[in-house]
Amino acid sequence: MPFKKNILCIGAGYVGGPTMAMIAAKCPQYKVLVVDINHKRINEWNSDNLPIYEPGLDELVKAARGRNLFFSNEIEKGIRDADIIFVSVNTPTKTFGQGSGMAADLQYWEKTARQILANSDRDKIIVEKSTLPVRTAKAMERILNSNGGNIKFEVLSNPEFLAEGSAIKDLENPDRVLIGSRETEEGIRARKELVDIYANWVPREKIIESNVWSSELSKLTANAFLAQRVSSINSLSALCEATEADIEEVAYAIGTDSRIGNKFLKASVGFGGSCFKKDILNLVYICRTYGLNEPADYWDSVVRINEWQERRFVLSMLSNMFNTVAGKKIAVLGFAFKANTGDTRESPAIYITRGLIEERALVNVSDPKALGNAREDLKDIREGLEYIEDPYKAAEGAHAIAVLTEWDIYRNLDYKKIFDSMVKPAFVFDGRNILNHRKLFEMGFNVFAIGKTPLKHF
Ligand SMILES: NC(=O)c1ccc[n+]([C@@H]2O[C@H](COP(=O)([O-])OP(=O)(O)OC[C@H]3O[C@@H](n4cnc5c(N)ncnc54)[C@H](O)[C@@H]3O)[C@@H](O)[C@H]2O)c1
Repeated sequence: MPFKKNILCIGAGYVGGPTMAMIAAKCPQYKVLVVDINHKRINEWNSDNLPIYEPGLDELVKAARGRNLFFSNEIEKGIRDADIIFVSVNTPTKTFGQGSGMAADLQYWEKTARQILANSDRDKIIVEKSTLPVRTAKAMERILNSNGGNIKFEVLSNPEFLAEGSAIKDLENPDRVLIGSRETEEGIRARKELVDIYANWVPREKIIESNVWSSELSKLTANAFLAQRVSSINSLSALCEATEADIEEVAYAIGTDSRIGNKFLKASVGFGGSCFKKDILNLVYICRTYGLNEPADYWDSVVRINEWQERRFVLSMLSNMFNTVAGKKIAVLGFAFKANTGDTRESPAIYITRGLIEERALVNVSDPKALGNAREDLKDIREGLEYIEDPYKAAEGAHAIAVLTEWDIYRNLDYKKIFDSMVKPAFVFDGRNILNHRKLFEMGFNVFAIGKTPLKHF
């Protein structure tokens, strides 16, 4: 049976892979091809060992792969055959030149735009799936329409709001899908084509349509607001520790106010992930470009508070362990930036492990899914570091354990067994507030959590 349309996605990463798997699963009438320059990644997408871990992803891919979902390195052929092209390449923070450390690095994105132009012989709809600075669609249109006007490209913005760790659930049942287009006749027609794809499984009232600039800016704004809530509660966690208030009680009390709401009010060692920091810094850079220094400073402080919270955690470990961790074994439980993912990009665990190693601690890093990435992140460290998946073994003979990822398995460990195997006095630093602190204290641990009065035996 011929397919109704050919969908192509350029970029087979954390967004491109799961998003296209969901479209293929929900829309058997479309052929979905995902391409990437990275051969290893594509081989893994075609194997039983997918390149990323997400609950539910294996099943989804296996059901559609070979039927209407395909992974390949043949980018140019993919472009030629496609009617609709999603661009989901990475847009990291620029590390050189103008805007270094803040602006989005658009080189991968621009290369893609030029490649699309070079390999197209008929009209196509281009969908920005990557997170991009507001007004990027304008630049994309300029590049794509530099062909003398024979072929028409309509550029849509369709930012992705999935959260890693719950990507499949989020894709299957999104809070909303946002589609922005030019408000011309052709723009609206292209927008409708994309609406029709999502309408195969997303209720129509959850598909929001807007102008293309609002759509681009909404993605940066959403991440800035989410991160801002984390930094707000984290900033107050320090005040709780100083005043015997309890951050969880405060968060509960304010979260019951329907104007505030209770989500994203969990105090922690800090936010990580590939997006929050990079997207806020990008927002800051854009504000500065428009001469808007006060909004830039405001959003910049969200990132600064996060860095301060990570630093504070290391300093708290140091000062509470008698001002030295040199030669002491510390078990880091959790290296992923959040539970249910192997992704460690910008994970607070990277900063904290490095901080402990600088203090000459001996660190055992443990994680159920992220040790491969952890090894890569810390590959320059030659001494004092071990990777041990079994949390009991990681904690054996340790002076302290630091919980840095909220994996469920860490909630239910046999902490009595762990305590018995540790050097005394034994310390727990709960960077995610997931453990039963009173119980641990009664076992004999000295317990330090975020935004809570420490429970100490001395
Ligand atoms: N990870 C998330 O949770 C998330 C959520 C929402 C939005 N986003 C945004 O989505 C975009 C992609 O993020 P990601 O996490 O999937 O990144 P990723 O690094 O996991 O994947 C990007 C992929 O694009 C490929 N690529 C780069 N240039 C290419 C080219 N010219 N041709 C073909 N392939 C190319 C890379 O090899 C890589 O596999 C980013 O803009 C990000 O900000 C990410």
